[in-house]
Amino acid sequence: MRMVDLILKKRNGGELNEEEIRFIIEGFTNETIPDYQMSALSMAIYFNGMTEKETAALTMEMVKSGDVIDLSNIQGKKVDKHSTGGVGDKISLIVAPLVASIGIPVAKMSGRGLGHTGGTIDKLESFPGFNVELTEEQFTKQVNDIKMSIIGQTGNLTPADKRLYALRDVTATVDSIPLIASSIMSKKIAAGADSIVLDVKTGSGAFMKSFDDAKALAEEMVAIGKNVGRQTVAVITDMDQPLGFEIGNANEVKEAIEVLSGKDVNDLKTIALTIAGHMAVLGEFYPTFDEAYADLEKRMADGHALEVFRQFVAAQGGDASLVDDLSKLPQAKYETTFVAKQAGYVESIIADEVGVAAMLLGAGRATKDDQLDFAAGITLEKKVGDKVEAGDVIAVLRSNKEDMTSALERMDHAYTIGATEPTARPLVHAVIQ
Ligand code: URA
Repeated sequence: MRMVDLILKKRNGGELNEEEIRFIIEGFTNETIPDYQMSALSMAIYFNGMTEKETAALTMEMVKSGDVIDLSNIQGKKVDKHSTGGVGDKISLIVAPLVASIGIPVAKMSGRGLGHTGGTIDKLESFPGFNVELTEEQFTKQVNDIKMSIIGQTGNLTPADKRLYALRDVTATVDSIPLIASSIMSKKIAAGADSIVLDVKTGSGAFMKSFDDAKALAEEMVAIGKNVGRQTVAVITDMDQPLGFEIGNANEVKEAIEVLSGKDVNDLKTIALTIAGHMAVLGEFYPTFDEAYADLEKRMADGHALEVFRQFVAAQGGDASLVDDLSKLPQAKYETTFVAKQAGYVESIIADEVGVAAMLLGAGRATKDDQLDFAAGITLEKKVGDKVEAGDVIAVLRSNKEDMTSALERMDHAYTIGATEPTARPLVHAVIQ
């Protein structure tokens, strides 16, 4: 087999078979297929797409390119969740203890963040002493004991995806739906998931800005799941403004704990219950989603999920007393307010811009090696649809850097205040299964 013939086949709109895809991914992983040929193939895929069969084969070949986590020593069906990411997204911190509280094992590997704020793992490191690097034995034991663990990625998972993503990043081929779908699904499958709930975001702060693109990605990932024997549900949720009121690291942890303590933050609660509901159905705890949602809503505020969260923080070496005294979480030295220049309604908030503002305060990394300031972040006092008077505080910015001018400029760009009350967007746009 020659790579050039396979590039030609794809360039001319043909379908690659499993054997050909295996040849490509094995060759790319062991470096007998050079980057320039893989780049050409990626561009051919970008223009001609892939069939469901091709995408499933690509996913499984990328899984096979590295380690696959064996969760077979964990009792019960392992249901993982993945979010395509957004600003203020602390849903995993709410969903994981909630689902674990009914006995479904949550054995989750999470990434660090590059961009607006830290990833889930970074956020958890707001607890002094929190350890994200457990051995496989410790990880397994903890999930069997308390039903929940979240750690950083271990082992050499999906090296083919890692290399391919880096190549796509510099060859203008990132935004190809089959390549994104196989990239995300390969990582979840390599991490040992039996079934998967995907939170596919859409809106100004999402990777997929338009609903149609988000739906296409969701459908493609659900199809991969079907073709490779992993039950998959995708929930398309709104990311047109930040989620909740807190954007940062320690402050996002605080907000997640508040929701687990019964605070009614509508968007967080609705989306978390929707994701948790589907996880609980896939985990075979409830027969229907409606029953799952209703029961989990009651359980969310009854303290059980919060107790799992406490045990989880303690089990991984963190100071769990912070869960009951949130003032002990990292606090910033400086604080400033962003105020309304005119009266009206908050018509829109460009979520990405708020994310960049948080990063400029120190909450996110501009490069891989940047240190996070866990205390840096933004508290939104006004969200879309709220009425404001000139001079009202719209947001509070916190940082250990005294000069917050550039973050304030971003906030100014993010918010549009106008005369008309906007119509509310749905929080859950669609469920694909
Ligand atoms: N996220 C991923 O994991 N892979 C992609 O290709 C794009 C976004």
